[in-house]
Amino acid sequence: MQIPFLDLSRMDSDLQERLRAKFSQVLEKGIFSGGEEVQILEKTIQQKLNSLYAIPCANGTDALELALRALEIGEGDEVIVPALTWVSTAEAVRMVGAKPKFWDTDVNGLLRSDWVEAITPKTKAVIPVHLYGRMVDMATLTEKAQFKGISVIEDAAQAFGAFQDGKAAGTWGSVGCLSFYPTKNLGALGEAGMCLTQDERLAEKIRLLSNHGQPKRDEHVLVGRNSRIDTLQAAFLTVMLEDFEKHQQKRKSLAKIYLEELSDLEGLELPQGLMESNQNAHLFVVKSDKRNELREFLADHGIGTAIHYPQIIPDMEPYFVEGDFSNARILANQGLSLPLNPWLKEEEVEKITKAIKSFFTKKS
Ligand SMILES: Cc1ncc(COP(=O)(O)O)c(C=O)c1O
Repeated sequence: MQIPFLDLSRMDSDLQERLRAKFSQVLEKGIFSGGEEVQILEKTIQQKLNSLYAIPCANGTDALELALRALEIGEGDEVIVPALTWVSTAEAVRMVGAKPKFWDTDVNGLLRSDWVEAITPKTKAVIPVHLYGRMVDMATLTEKAQFKGISVIEDAAQAFGAFQDGKAAGTWGSVGCLSFYPTKNLGALGEAGMCLTQDERLAEKIRLLSNHGQPKRDEHVLVGRNSRIDTLQAAFLTVMLEDFEKHQQKRKSLAKIYLEELSDLEGLELPQGLMESNQNAHLFVVKSDKRNELREFLADHGIGTAIHYPQIIPDMEPYFVEGDFSNARILANQGLSLPLNPWLKEEEVEKITKAIKSFFTKKS
């Protein structure tokens, strides 16, 4: 593939150098779990996102599970989850013994605004997912949830760096969950995640749950687990944070080229509002009823693409349930993610748009 969907080995040599230097520093210090690097990461993210608490953990899926456990959600409870998301959102609900109650998305893949209709006496929480890096209308959602007396767990795994009304993705809900999976806008060189909260009691509980229920060594006050972040990943993330704004600008400037070049193509729907601050340009997802042919055509031209996601969760065997998930299903059948990452070159985006234009001209 001449233009891969994403190839992390393309990282700038300058960034690679700083990451190598950080690795050497950690190796010399000899502290590989906990320690100063983890504290620095916490502080940096607290400040960057203006969050009172930022508790790192092993990955984004664990962050969701820790949030659910901290809110004491489990057996017999229901949690509202959008029908289209990465599997972790529903998986975490099932892992704590609760039932995901799937609801359709809107045309953009965000939880449809009439989700309150899914509430039953068993509903304890709703999990809005900022899919593709686009934020759900959180002012409205949190107000509705508060009125109904249920908690909000924000799945901000794809939305690091997006802000709505000046408030960061992940800081609106009772708990916000972040993933630092390597392909995310802020990615580690391995697995890592984080819970954000503005509530001291929840912060304390999440911290305990992620570390064997242990306020101090050999004292266990509840049944927790080990979901600590690796010191090395925390250290790498602090390096990645140095370039975060630069990378965001690059993502947005490449997205702008796509938007300008592909604006008038019949049969191709472009993402809306991607240049606004409540979106972090994580993925550039176009829609076409010729999605599969387009994908093949681009592959034949050496261009890699991806599908987020080809199947809605309630259609998957372990989660199977019937219902009207028509918007989510359309996205699963028609959505195509074009390459968008800080290591992509402008000329490459131009080549991609040219290929897409020729596909649609050929067709019409
Ligand atoms: C929407 C969503 N939720 C949860 C996760 C889980 O994060 P992780 O892969 O770090 O476990 C991801 C990332 O993969 C995600 O995209």
